[in-house]
Amino acid sequence: PPINPLRIALAAAQGTLTPEGPLLTRRLSDLEGLFADEPARKRAADGDDPVVYTVAASPVPEVARELPQSVTTILPGAVGGEFHMTKGHQHPDPQGEIYLGLAGRGGLLLHDGTRTEWIEMEPGVIGYIPPGWAHRSVNIGDEPYRFLAVYPGSAGHDYGWVVKHGMGRRVFRDGASYTLAPFSAA
Ligand code: F6R
Ligand code: ZN
Repeated sequence: PPINPLRIALAAAQGTLTPEGPLLTRRLSDLEGLFADEPARKRAADGDDPVVYTVAASPVPEVARELPQSVTTILPGAVGGEFHMTKGHQHPDPQGEIYLGLAGRGGLLLHDGTRTEWIEMEPGVIGYIPPGWAHRSVNIGDEPYRFLAVYPGSAGHDYGWVVKHGMGRRVFRDGASYTLAPFSAA
């Protein structure tokens, strides 16, 4: 059965949802094989193993017909010049998803196996992810990049798809800006 109506407070400056669901923390040690410079990632993971991003979920469960939300915060940084990013995934049951920028500067990288798109994100910008497009988020700034995600509870998350097909591009630091490079295997 559906859950009861909920009032959820979103603190955009902190990245918290109240009431809250599970909190996920991804460190460099969780991101093996995702950055082009795998030796650099491993060195840092074997060292102080920095947090790359956190995902704070709302209490709305990931089940059919519900519409869960989460707030992702990607900390600033780079590995071998490649900006901090999420693992990236495809929804096995292809359904749309929306992101809303809350803080910092980032980008939404989308790939459907053939085409690649890049949407610059900042507070107030909605990034729309159509069904069938794998997506990864990147912090292109020097402060935390934060966004709200809202997605169908039955969409599921396939991380293997991105490992197999890549994301079409990689995002590298380029002076005070960034550059989109062709995808290369790790
Ligand atoms: C949910 C969604 C986001 C991501 C989050 C972490 O469908 O797209 O909430 O799950 O930004 O990224 P991943 O899941 O790729 O590690
Ligand atoms: Zn998603």
